[in-house]
Amino acid sequence: MRQTLVAGNWKLNGSIDDIQTLVKGILDGMSGANGKAVAVCPPYVYIPMVSELLKGSEVGLGAQDVSEQSSGAFTGEVSPEMLKEIGCQYAIVGHSERRSIYGELDTDTANKYKAAMDSGLTPILCVGELLEERESGDTENVVARQLDAVIDAVGVEGLAAGVIAYEPVWAIGTGKTASPEQAQDVHAFIRNKVAQLDTVVAEKVQILYGGSVNGGNAAELFAMEDIDGGLIGGASLTSEAFLAICTA
Ligand code: PGA
Repeated sequence: MRQTLVAGNWKLNGSIDDIQTLVKGILDGMSGANGKAVAVCPPYVYIPMVSELLKGSEVGLGAQDVSEQSSGAFTGEVSPEMLKEIGCQYAIVGHSERRSIYGELDTDTANKYKAAMDSGLTPILCVGELLEERESGDTENVVARQLDAVIDAVGVEGLAAGVIAYEPVWAIGTGKTASPEQAQDVHAFIRNKVAQLDTVVAEKVQILYGGSVNGGNAAELFAMEDIDGGLIGGASLTSEAFLAICTA
């Protein structure tokens, strides 16, 4: 049985005060998460503070991105080793906002995945198609291409060290969630694709869904056979909304 994981991606949101309130609220309500793993991904600068606040709790900590470099003249970058040192377990790689706004390529994402994995972080690999790609019937090709880049870099065994998040770009921040069946279809495609290379890895790898998940649709999504939790943006910014998903 794969454990359900609910991870909050706070993106570029929050302040010291907001985040203290949010973390306290999450910790107060965590008893309802019954067996789900829960993690939060703050902006880099707040990670040390959140790490302190989470001490002794079951809530995991991740970064929203990571450098593929480990040190040197790379202005603005943060290495996986640094994230490990300040207490992160996870790093999101290849989020669609990194790909579309910052021009990150499949190979960049794959290199970040490898660097995170090699440092002992659990990479959360985001994949997903644009609306045009879905409408032209290219969803599976796009997701396969994004996955293949990572498999080329780390082998199929490398996928066992991470988590995959299927996030249709048209569902992110739009309030337009994929239906449980639409999401399940792509999750099953991903798991079958991995199974063609390694059935053990395919059974093991957690595949999260992301894109307008909220307290009202989480239970239905998480009940699907190949959906092992969620990557949550907007609804992770208040403890009430996030806990409604964690306890779904
Ligand atoms: P959303 O974001 O929940 O606000 O749609 C999801 C994500 O970008 O990971």
